[in-house]
Amino acid sequence: MISRSDFGADFKWGVSTAAFQIEGAHGIDDKVPSIWDEFTHRKGKIHKGHHARMACDFYNLYPQDLDAVRNLSIPNFRFSLSWTRIINRDHSVNEKGIAFYNRILDGCLARGLEPWVTIYHWDIPHFLEEKGGWTNRDIVSWFGEYVEVCAKYFGDRVKHWMVMNEPMVFTGAGYYLGIHAPGRKGLSSFIPAMHHATLCQAEGGRRLKFLLPQAEVGTTFSCSHVEPLNNSPAHQRAAVKIDALLNRLYLEPSLGMGYPVKDISLLSRVEKYMKAGDEQMMAFDFDFIGVQNYTREIAKRSWMIPILFATLVGAHKRKVETTLMNWEVYPASIYHMLKKYGAYEKVRKIYVTENGAAFEDSLLNGRVEDKRRVKYLHDYIAQVHRAKQEGVPVEGYFVWTLQDNFEWAEGYRPRFGLIYTDFETQERVVKDSGYWYRDFLEEKIVIS
Ligand code: GAL
Repeated sequence: MISRSDFGADFKWGVSTAAFQIEGAHGIDDKVPSIWDEFTHRKGKIHKGHHARMACDFYNLYPQDLDAVRNLSIPNFRFSLSWTRIINRDHSVNEKGIAFYNRILDGCLARGLEPWVTIYHWDIPHFLEEKGGWTNRDIVSWFGEYVEVCAKYFGDRVKHWMVMNEPMVFTGAGYYLGIHAPGRKGLSSFIPAMHHATLCQAEGGRRLKFLLPQAEVGTTFSCSHVEPLNNSPAHQRAAVKIDALLNRLYLEPSLGMGYPVKDISLLSRVEKYMKAGDEQMMAFDFDFIGVQNYTREIAKRSWMIPILFATLVGAHKRKVETTLMNWEVYPASIYHMLKKYGAYEKVRKIYVTENGAAFEDSLLNGRVEDKRRVKYLHDYIAQVHRAKQEGVPVEGYFVWTLQDNFEWAEGYRPRFGLIYTDFETQERVVKDSGYWYRDFLEEKIVIS
């Protein structure tokens, strides 16, 4: 039996969101377009042509959404700032955007909620993408200036910062595969984007810490426990490469270990973009790392994939239980990732800053009986506890996400929320999983 108190009184329980996925209010109060505003207008990029012009209308409905967080007894609320509301095309500050985030922050504090802020959750201004976006090294100063504005205006109230959300996903899906904004493809886009994101990750940390020495400064990483298809050495080598790519690529440079070039030789192409001193610039001593885990991956050797010679075996081919994203439900993945990251000497503290699942939810007579999500959260939280008991310095857990929202290229199809969103009426209905999480947090139920 595990109850909330078994994690300790200081353990941070929360829920995570991201600006573009919930805010809507496209173009309102002089917001400039982001790469995602642009991408969602392109034909064939998003499931059924969905867009996020309205999303959950959090821009207007935030009072009721923050009320819901409080009513579910969730003490910590993670959200991201939209660069495009805060910085104008001429690089001046948009006071209306600042005012919006002031309302959110004050709204959190008035309700006794602790705000956790992500500086960059994938929505770079389109006017910067026109200059090359993440592939242009100038982004180190563009990003640095944006970070300083955030620190200056919000640092009096924000005590927990995350510089970035999942750099592997926004560079991999956005600059290599082309399935996320800005839809660019190939190594010639990916490698410079990767290097500049790595520099910005550390530079953002440095600037925040310099301006706000008392604040807790971290950054987040996507990760999946990787296993080989079987014990053959070829598949094992493939698993090492995939693991390096998915789980080590952005963490290790921040720890001063450089890129994992030994395991992925194609990364040596980054030399073309490296300048003297970059190895040091890529490193920053974060107070914590955010671990974001949903599933596990199985890797195999493949002749079909040039350069890497490794690929993933999709969950549907393995006949395992999956979520609506076709991700395997595999609770021990989070345990393995926490153990792996906890074993790095320089990782001081870990928060699980995202974990959750999309399932087929239906609203029937005012209720959403999402049994599978309850079980998913239950089983993953139990694995977090297992890692903690074994000495991993994991100090928090945040569910992805508060309410069903705009799930990037998948549009509104996958529903991840603890709260059901009716996207026609903007009505919200707390799902059974939301009540389950509340009851767990209120120590009315335990994990068995
Ligand atoms: C993460 C991402 C979130 C959310 C979630 C579910 O990768 O940070 O924005 O979309 O996945 O897919």
